Amino acid sequence: MTALKKPLIAVNLKTYPEVSGARAVALAKVCESVSNETGVSIAVAPPMTDLAVVVQSVDIPVLSQHIDAVQQGSTTGHVPLGVVSACGGAGTLLNHSERRMRIADIASLVVDCRKAGLATIVCTNDIAVTRACAALEPDFVAIEPPELIGGDVSVTTANPAIVRDSVDAARGVSPGVGVLCGAGVKNGVDVAKASELGTDGVLLASGVVKAGDPRKALLDLASGFNE
Ligand code: G3P
Repeated sequence: MTALKKPLIAVNLKTYPEVSGARAVALAKVCESVSNETGVSIAVAPPMTDLAVVVQSVDIPVLSQHIDAVQQGSTTGHVPLGVVSACGGAGTLLNHSERRMRIADIASLVVDCRKAGLATIVCTNDIAVTRACAALEPDFVAIEPPELIGGDVSVTTANPAIVRDSVDAARGVSPGVGVLCGAGVKNGVDVAKASELGTDGVLLASGVVKAGDPRKALLDLASGFNE
């Protein structure tokens, strides 16, 4: 298991066809190579079915895209915490816009993940939810306005205020919490702006997964921390 360091680029591979099968491992290796080359911490969240093979293939933090608030054992078609832990995941996204959760379940999973040594990145959609989730003291919250996800305009350009205000809201209730932003993030300029707005990095998907040259895209994203 590899810890999440700040500043962080977290790459969610979602279930895009571009990363199905062996291609998730290939893209995770590109993330690893760029992380080693630049010294920037890059974590990858592969499709759930590829979690174990990606963990075995790279030496960067590998995240689950989700954990269900169910016990490991007599449950079918779920992702219990124990499964993610046993296969060597470094942590998990929780409450992604595409996989919303009840706050009571987020709260118990944040506690249980910490006990199990798993980092948590709790996704949020607005400032009030950011504040509520930061109060649960996850490792990170990640503000992602749903309407900007998968689009061409970065949240840092379309709505810098929601990023800045989320940073303030999160740190106001939980000074130690890391704050990421995401939705439409594509390049080093977006990363530099995210840093300027007070975040600890970005959470993105299509800007890497759908890039013609993911390595070039990642190098550009990582360069944003030097601007
Ligand atoms: O989990 C990251 C995601 O929701 C943002 O997606 O494609 O806008 O970078 P994208």
